[in-house]
Amino acid sequence: MGQQQARLWRDDYVLGYTAAEYERLRRQGQTFGPVTRRLFQAIGLKPGWTCLDLGCGPGETMRLMGEFVGPSGEVTGLDRDATAGREAVGRLQATGTSQYRFIEANIEGTDAIGGELFDLTFARLALLFSRDPVAVLRKMYSWTKPGGYVAVQDLHVSTINLYPKLEACSELLRVIRETCERFGQDMEFAFKLPVYFVEAGIGAPDGTDVNLPMTSFEPFIAHHQALCRSLLPKAIALGITTEARMHSVFRDIEQAAVDGQQYSALWPAMIGVWKRKPMR
Ligand SMILES: C[S@@+](CC[C@H](N)C(=O)[O-])C[C@H]1O[C@@H](n2cnc3c(N)ncnc32)[C@H](O)[C@@H]1O
Repeated sequence: MGQQQARLWRDDYVLGYTAAEYERLRRQGQTFGPVTRRLFQAIGLKPGWTCLDLGCGPGETMRLMGEFVGPSGEVTGLDRDATAGREAVGRLQATGTSQYRFIEANIEGTDAIGGELFDLTFARLALLFSRDPVAVLRKMYSWTKPGGYVAVQDLHVSTINLYPKLEACSELLRVIRETCERFGQDMEFAFKLPVYFVEAGIGAPDGTDVNLPMTSFEPFIAHHQALCRSLLPKAIALGITTEARMHSVFRDIEQAAVDGQQYSALWPAMIGVWKRKPMR
């Protein structure tokens, strides 16, 4: 591993902490909202429950949790990014839908977060970035009440496909994939979650949920272009692409979007996995 990459591994998060990334996450939260709502319904998330959202970012899952648990419940977000977390809590508290709080912490280095155990300990699109997801799952389980739930939703990226092929799109996806892989991310992470649950001592999941959207070109490419823009500074720093190369990729994609060609686009699969902790 080169010195530059070692620095990226130690200090950095591939998607960065910009206002544009927060806005991307909020928009993405609208896309993934229905499938997260479905998982909360499957678990039976109710008014009065207490929830922990690991890697809460700008709070889209916290907002959804608050709708389920209501003013008698409580939603705690945890993230190492205090700017996003505090902003989220400020915005959500003003809605009056539930009680919201935020803990600034790095999941990797935190064993105890204090306070009461939670009815639901949840992470969406967060464990994928962890170097030791089994260790994080073990912590999630220890922060869950007996009778409560541990649940994770994350992406299995290898399902992505586009027909007919478009060179600029293939290049965009290559840049995303290679950059994420250089940061240690496993493109088939979510598919392995049931095994990780067992390895963490949680046990085989009680339930799983898979959502695999297939759409036209526009929403698929808008999602991946936004993702690519967030990780582009890292991709360029790592020599995976150049500004000039990506300029022509984005230009070719814009051209394709107005060409009138019909495309069929298969997205990453969003996989949800959950387990109830025994009462004793
Ligand atoms: C892709 S965002 C997902 C945000 C949110 N869960 C959602 O679904 O919209 C990943 C979040 O995980 C956080 N994160 C990544 N690694 C973390 C770590 N080791 N400790 C705490 N937060 C972490 C990032 O700061 C970021 O806010």
